Amino acid sequence: MNSQIPKTFHVKSFGCQMNVYDGARMTELLEAEGMKASADVGAADLVVLNTCHIRERAVDKIYSDIGRLRRDDGSRPMIAVAGCVAQAEGGEIPRRAPIVDIVVGPQAYHRLPELVAKAGRGEPALDTDMPIESKFGELPARRRQGPSAFLTIQEGCDKFCTYCVVPYTRGAEVSRGWSAILDEARALIDLGAKEITLLGQNVNAWTGEDEAGRIQGMDGLARALDRLNGLERIRYMTSHPSDMTDGLIRAHAEVEKLMPFLHLPVQSGNDRVLKAMNRSHAIHDYLDIIDRVRAARPDIAISGDFIVGFPGEKDSEFEDTLKIVEAVNYAQAYSFKYSPRPGTPAADMDEQVPAELMDERLQRLQALINQQQLEFNQAIVGRRTSVLLERQGKKPGQLIGKTPWLQSVHLETTAVVGDMVEVEILSAGPNSLAGAEFMKDAA
Ligand code: SAH
Ligand code: SF4
Ligand code: F3S
Repeated sequence: MNSQIPKTFHVKSFGCQMNVYDGARMTELLEAEGMKASADVGAADLVVLNTCHIRERAVDKIYSDIGRLRRDDGSRPMIAVAGCVAQAEGGEIPRRAPIVDIVVGPQAYHRLPELVAKAGRGEPALDTDMPIESKFGELPARRRQGPSAFLTIQEGCDKFCTYCVVPYTRGAEVSRGWSAILDEARALIDLGAKEITLLGQNVNAWTGEDEAGRIQGMDGLARALDRLNGLERIRYMTSHPSDMTDGLIRAHAEVEKLMPFLHLPVQSGNDRVLKAMNRSHAIHDYLDIIDRVRAARPDIAISGDFIVGFPGEKDSEFEDTLKIVEAVNYAQAYSFKYSPRPGTPAADMDEQVPAELMDERLQRLQALINQQQLEFNQAIVGRRTSVLLERQGKKPGQLIGKTPWLQSVHLETTAVVGDMVEVEILSAGPNSLAGAEFMKDAA
């Protein structure tokens, strides 16, 4: 066993952007304790698997990943399982995989250093509390940031869609405070961030009081961020249709730094299925929001999530999903086969859809989405747009950045990561664009 405090660590995050954000905060926390981040899993004294519980496959993968942490010489690192599987399975994890030393839930990871110390003494180290006082106040200041930053402003979900584990793994909806968010945004900008993506399981349900005691929504927060010098782009995800307020729609017309992109999952194109999913909105509500958002910001890119094969989904109901995709015309979208999750109401519903039928539906849906994605990308070929350079590409001198519509662009340039450049788009595929630098931004 591990009877020592680790000197090096490696954090590996799975799942959504909120997990990526939590992974970055855990990294900073362990660094503040004097440990060093190691890029090599095989060399780290402590490995933190920051897990996702959203679909069955994701969970199975975690257990196989844990097994692979055993090294050729028979040794192994100290192993911590964090994230949503930790919250959902708790003590079951060390029972199923006894080489796991630490289990820590998504609302308790500020206590990771104490848990590491316990595990170092060979004591059981499990913490899946959801403390009333937020972990955010306990975490060390931000220390590192690239040009595009994530900032979690809202956690948890009260919507209880019948297929979903998130309300159980992340707990009730909680909004972080106005000034804590703005302070963190300023810190990220000082560290080099030019783009901030506000995150939440239902980010547009965020609400809080500003300095003057006025109740604000996410649109007010976007307006406050818009005033911060050095910040150039604001994004947010994921949004729920029921929380898409008039104010937020108006912000898309008025807030200069708010990017023309909206990720608004609908899940299904059929009202009966939406009802069985407990989605609290109908198809016409969704289409009405899309119309109003497009009226406010005509060039906005719309993204979505879909589930095929929800229990009881008939052929004709699946066809309705294809119809809504046709009607909306997505810039990009994610689609998933329904995965029964333990403890959720849908897992016990009759008429689970057979796997082959789900495969067939998924293929048809993805073919349609890919075609729309390609058309959306092709429509920008020959135009000039700003690109925020985020990372090195595979080829020497090649950098990869994003357009305002969240498309990836590859280009050869003498500019550096973090620069905002004007790019002429030369060609487009379904997942990325190629471009050439037009001129370097004077800023
Ligand atoms: N809060 C966000 C989504 C979070 S989960 C929202 O409501 O939009 C991300 C996506 O995973 C969901 O939008 C849904 O499409 C998918 N998902 C969630 N639970 C699932 C399940 N049991 N099986 C398949 N896909 C699921
Ligand atoms: Fe899950 Fe629904 Fe909440 Fe999204 S809104 S996190 S899909 S329960
Ligand atoms: Fe997965 Fe948890 Fe995010 S279940 S999608 S990591 S909130």
